[in-house]
Amino acid sequence: MAKARSGRSHYVCSACGGVSPKWLGQCPHCRDWNTLEEAANEVSSGGGRFASLAPSLGVVDIVDVQPEAIARIPTGSEEFDRVLGGGMVEGSVVLIGGDPGIGKSTLLLQALAHVAAGHPVLYVTGEESAAQVALRASRLGLQDARVPLLAETELEKIIPEIISRRPRVAVIDSIQTMYSGALQSAPGSVAQVRDCAAHLTRVSKQTGVAIVMIGHVTKEGTLAGPRVLEHIVDTVLYFEGDTFSSHRLVRAFKNRFGAVNELGVFAMTDRGLRGVSNPSALFLSRRDREVAGSCVLVTQEGTRPLLVEVQALVDNAHVPNPRRLSVGLEQNRLAMLLAVLNRHAGIACYDQDVFINAVGGVRIAEPAADLAVMLAIVSSIRDRPLPRGLAAFGEIGLAGEIRPAPRGQERLREMAKLGFSRALIPRANAPKRPIEGLEAIAVEHLDEALASAWSD
Ligand code: TYD
Ligand code: MG
Repeated sequence: MAKARSGRSHYVCSACGGVSPKWLGQCPHCRDWNTLEEAANEVSSGGGRFASLAPSLGVVDIVDVQPEAIARIPTGSEEFDRVLGGGMVEGSVVLIGGDPGIGKSTLLLQALAHVAAGHPVLYVTGEESAAQVALRASRLGLQDARVPLLAETELEKIIPEIISRRPRVAVIDSIQTMYSGALQSAPGSVAQVRDCAAHLTRVSKQTGVAIVMIGHVTKEGTLAGPRVLEHIVDTVLYFEGDTFSSHRLVRAFKNRFGAVNELGVFAMTDRGLRGVSNPSALFLSRRDREVAGSCVLVTQEGTRPLLVEVQALVDNAHVPNPRRLSVGLEQNRLAMLLAVLNRHAGIACYDQDVFINAVGGVRIAEPAADLAVMLAIVSSIRDRPLPRGLAAFGEIGLAGEIRPAPRGQERLREMAKLGFSRALIPRANAPKRPIEGLEAIAVEHLDEALASAWSD
């Protein structure tokens, strides 16, 4: 850690932005607790507050600005390119977060090895030694890739290296291990992470080097210093999926150069991450016989529809407060759906435990999952499987009405492509022209949905 140098830093409240000359438990401005974080003082070359700034380029009219074509750098993986919006962008900063051991270093090493075939790259490793990275490379069959490694954690040594080498893509593995000598706080602290990320972003914008920062997720499920980092960078990607199964999802949360919620699906093999071109098959559990409490949902992830099996188990509760547990789906939405079910379909669950699960570790936040969740719950209560080949989507309103979902036609086409023969959907999403092999059952109300799901 750097030696304490008085007068080199101040403290900024992360809630109100108020500045204090020393650290305090409570912000003197907004009275919030534990919000003060260390920040380095900008060293100005003298004069007034704005003396050190470069002269302004002047105000220009938007019509006079020539938009530059975005130069994309393919990563060699169709799935990774998709989440990035078509490849890495020159001079952009990507933050990729995820649990330890999920495959962040593996993915970026594979991508760098591909880029290295045509362009200079740099892999900065603060977490593992160069030997460990080389070992992983040989495991991935990339021992011959020309990826320069820099095992370093001090920002003041890394930035000159990036500036002098001018790689097309530089990977920082990980941002939490980096530290700047200008700050007194320990590496990994919010102040350090924010400062390092801000410096690296500035370097990226000035030099045109695309920088990928790997970030670890804290126990609370957020990246350290989340709010600040998300604003600084251009793209925020998240690695999801449970470490018990082999598939991994990379999701775009923010992307200045592409669509958000775009999803890349990978499988972790003994030779690294492989893109999965038909991901719907992953999230449908394979079995010969239909079972009660299961319904297939068509969810839309970015530009791609995805079929996911939703399971429900409704069982007699043996405690006064029945349990409502949801894995991969919204917990609050489950409580709401059970209330709608009671009120508008006369099915009460007040003495039942209700568990719901999205198969395959995928997380679904969109309300269009409602109808499939409801069908799975009712199927479990009635102990009657849904007919074979049925899939559903649609939001359920508080009045029991079935509301349309965006991009209905794409969802229907994905169902047909995967061999589903019946689609239970909102009336407003009914296809204008019939889709071959798919019978669309368009419904307006919950009663209607429940009646037509089991009508044969
Ligand atoms: P890693 O990329 O080191 O994860 P992170 O950087 O996100 O912490 O991935 C580590 C895990 O991946 C580890 O448990 C081993 C596994 N793995 C494979 O299964 N196959 C491989 O080819 C590689 C390189 C790793
Ligand atoms: Mg790693």
